[in-house]
Amino acid sequence: MHQLREARIEELAQLTELCLQSKALWGYDDAIMQCCRQELTFRPADMENSLICVAESNSQLLGVAQLQVDDEEAFLARLFVSPARQKAGIGKALFGWSIKAAHRAGAATRLLIDADPLAAGFYQRMGARQEGSVDSVTVPGLRMPRFRVTL
Ligand SMILES: CC(C)(COP(=O)(O)OP(=O)(O)OC[C@H]1O[C@@H](n2cnc3c(N)ncnc32)[C@H](O)[C@@H]1OP(=O)(O)O)[C@@H](O)C(=O)NCCC(=O)NCCS
Repeated sequence: MHQLREARIEELAQLTELCLQSKALWGYDDAIMQCCRQELTFRPADMENSLICVAESNSQLLGVAQLQVDDEEAFLARLFVSPARQKAGIGKALFGWSIKAAHRAGAATRLLIDADPLAAGFYQRMGARQEGSVDSVTVPGLRMPRFRVTL
């Protein structure tokens, strides 16, 4: 069993490592992982300009989601589950949190996700619909499917 709660500032370094370990599970090489490090690093400012939720069990961090809300639109900036705890419903729980948090924060139109191509099946399973793709800002040449959930 796991619980969801708000992230704490002293956990940001640990959450960065969780994201990197989770991303590495897809088998990206060192060069790509190096490109991702900047993008996946949580900073104190993230606590102020976004909502961050963690999944934990027995004081162990198992997953994290970060949501940015810009007026009526929300953007799921990150969703990562610890490698050893994937396929156990944590991603689904954090995705559910992001929808509820978007509503609570006043987003009324859509939730957008620029997904890792290897996570596309998960977002489809969550009911998101693909609408095009965008260039990755960190990995040259990588196209990321853009998913949309109508709020
Ligand atoms: C994508 C990710 C968040 C999914 O989290 P998870 O905890 O493993 O997912 P869940 O166990 O909650 O899965 C929910 C459902 O989605 C399905 N699913 C999970 N990952 C899937 C995938 N890659 N492709 C297709 N279906 C997937 C599960 O089978 C499950 O289906 P069910 O409802 O029929 O049982 C996780 O694999 C992850 O952290 N990946 C690495 C990092 C990453 O790329 N994150 C996304 C950045 S955009």
